[in-house]
Amino acid sequence: TSNWIDVAVQEDVPQDDVIGLAVAGRDIALYGVEGEVFATDNICTHGHAQLCDGFLEGHEIECPLHQGRFDVRSGQPTHAPATEALRSYPVKIEGGRVWLALD
Ligand code: FES
Repeated sequence: TSNWIDVAVQEDVPQDDVIGLAVAGRDIALYGVEGEVFATDNICTHGHAQLCDGFLEGHEIECPLHQGRFDVRSGQPTHAPATEALRSYPVKIEGGRVWLALD
């Protein structure tokens, strides 16, 4: 059973952009892409950079530090030097709010 947590108002997630927020002691990145919302850990798996300071293009987030990239839908790395997947989280939109399942 998933533990859904209400983390944001859907309208507060910008389209074609990324925001960072603290949820239950974790640093989470929320991405708005084509009307959908995706969530991953906000800390890059390559170094200690926050992806919310990076650049989102389509479904790809580019890390601000060494320009590694990840697919925000799966967390999978898509461009060097990123090689390790980001943790990604299930998202649902309900009642105009964004819910994450953290475990
Ligand atoms: Fe993100 Fe190096 S810290 S690519």
